[in-house]
Amino acid sequence: MGHDWVEDAKRRAAVEAVKNIRDNFIIGLGSGSTAAYAIEEIGRRIREEGLRVLGIPTSYQSLLLAAKFGVPTTTLYEHPIVDLTIDGADQIDSNLNLIKGGGGALTREKIIAAASKCLIIVADERKLTDRLGRGQLLPVEVLPFAKPFVEAKIREIGGKPHLREDRRSVPFITENGNFILDVDFGVIDEPLDLERRLKMIPGVVETGLFIGMTHLAYIGTKTSVRVMSTLRE
Ligand code: A5P
Repeated sequence: MGHDWVEDAKRRAAVEAVKNIRDNFIIGLGSGSTAAYAIEEIGRRIREEGLRVLGIPTSYQSLLLAAKFGVPTTTLYEHPIVDLTIDGADQIDSNLNLIKGGGGALTREKIIAAASKCLIIVADERKLTDRLGRGQLLPVEVLPFAKPFVEAKIREIGGKPHLREDRRSVPFITENGNFILDVDFGVIDEPLDLERRLKMIPGVVETGLFIGMTHLAYIGTKTSVRVMSTLRE
């Protein structure tokens, strides 16, 4: 897997991001290997500092990590407004627009992100890009019933869809019981326009484009953590 500095950079970014958490926050718990470090650090702060928070997991992975590290969990039913979500990303542009969904948890991640007053992204610097879609497929969650129709519509708007499969060539099934199409759109010139077009296709559940949602990004580099912000002074 990655080089040594990558794991270290991910962990440092996650630890910095967790410093934003205050007592009584409802925290969205992201998915992926970088968000996992954040969940571990939240658990440490609960244990060592007496921090009082509740987490809302975005996947079974984050639910299991919350249990492992002693982070009590709740749901959107009890807490429909989330104070802060810390999540990873697969690609991040200079406006903090994102491609997510490498782990297949994009739909719940996007719902929790949208329910959050603040979204913080944690990643190592390999995730930064000047243009979304460069060397990166866009995950799109689709209802299995609609797959052939959605594929045809995606081709009409210039994408090449590939059904995500596991190592045994079995379709990957999301936690919502759906398929993922990993779509090659090449460089995405107008991400918001693409998002709108995709969301208008019946059978598309969600896309991995997170446009205008991120407030802060903590980017682990080889030596430090760089903070990027879309917040106005
Ligand atoms: C999960 O569906 C994705 O959106 C993740 O946030 C993404 O894959 C980041 O994972 P890593 O931190 O492991 O790269």
